[in-house]
Amino acid sequence: MRTNICLFLFAILSSAFACKNSGPKQDEEQKPTLSIETADFGQTQEGPAKLYTLKNENGMEVVITNYGGIITRLLAPDKDGEFTDVVLGFDNLEDYQKDHPYFGAIIGRYGNRIAKGKFTIDGQEYTLAANNGPNALHGGPTGFHKRLWEAKETEREGYVGLELSRVSEDMEEGYPGNLSATVRYLLNNDNELLIEYEATADEPTIVNLTNHTYFNLKGAGKEDILGHILMVDADYFTPVDSTLIPTGELRPVEGTPFDFNTPTPIGERINAEDEQLTFGLGYDHNFVLDREGPGLELAATVREPTTGRFLEVLTTEPGLQFYSGNFLDGTNIGKYAVQYDYRSGFCLETQHYPDSPNQPDFPSTVLRPGETYASRTVYRFSVKP
Ligand code: GLA
Repeated sequence: MRTNICLFLFAILSSAFACKNSGPKQDEEQKPTLSIETADFGQTQEGPAKLYTLKNENGMEVVITNYGGIITRLLAPDKDGEFTDVVLGFDNLEDYQKDHPYFGAIIGRYGNRIAKGKFTIDGQEYTLAANNGPNALHGGPTGFHKRLWEAKETEREGYVGLELSRVSEDMEEGYPGNLSATVRYLLNNDNELLIEYEATADEPTIVNLTNHTYFNLKGAGKEDILGHILMVDADYFTPVDSTLIPTGELRPVEGTPFDFNTPTPIGERINAEDEQLTFGLGYDHNFVLDREGPGLELAATVREPTTGRFLEVLTTEPGLQFYSGNFLDGTNIGKYAVQYDYRSGFCLETQHYPDSPNQPDFPSTVLRPGETYASRTVYRFSVKP
């Protein structure tokens, strides 16, 4: 009798299983699990800007404009399945066209600082605009964050994607050579946002592309980010001078407020007496990532304990700029009329080290004709209560 019941149960279970695997139901078939929608965002000097919304089957959304390649909105779930926008930014194009601290933007041609805006390739010296004290920062006043990119949907198994491309002409913002750049934003059903950067040039030049999204896993700009718990897989960082240019030293993080190998709240040591924290007004430093090979490797994680949101950052890059939003001072009013106060967002910018063109011992950022610059970063969202 017992055997019969078991056989009966087995038959029911296996038929249910077979049914589940015989293909998606009618209504599931009609509803794509990954989608992209387009909307108008307004006019720029270079043409109309659009907003592209990438969605996955879990309800995660990433909205990108082809003006500056800016991520304007990113919905991620918390421990109760509640979706909130976790990136800082504006709700209109005009505010992005004004001066702002690079909210969500693609940064190029050179992310981070170049000392005195000068560098030399093959004996030829080039001069960039000094737009950050004596130094050049983030590709110049009209860098990649202020340009309109050509946009098209891109196909990839398991992803929905947007491909942005533009040609940065010879001597644009002072950089030599015509540079053809492509950036792809790809979203999958594992709540991973993959960003791929590629570039080629027709003359020797330098390139260091990144994305400057400010995250606040409590919700965009809501309170400060000091309670977020950060891990950075780095045994060394690149200390800076008072203008935030690396000295060239790779300094061990051990025993300093820069040791995030064990997950630690951002605010725990941010006000410690430390010359580097004084120079940065907090954290605004490049970490030398522990790497094993050239592929995507985990660089950092951030957990927000009250919402349980968990962010993992993987990259192929050798460095990570951790910036704790020290220059946010309440002057930017963002989406949902939220005022962006001191340290209300943080950036994890995957990159080559700052001022590499003037630091022969840092990994090179020179790109020569015939070579392809290629870099990948993943921002993966999950919950870890
Ligand atoms: C970068 C820099 C910071 C600051 C911000 C923008 O992350 O390292 O010093 O300039 O951009 O405000």
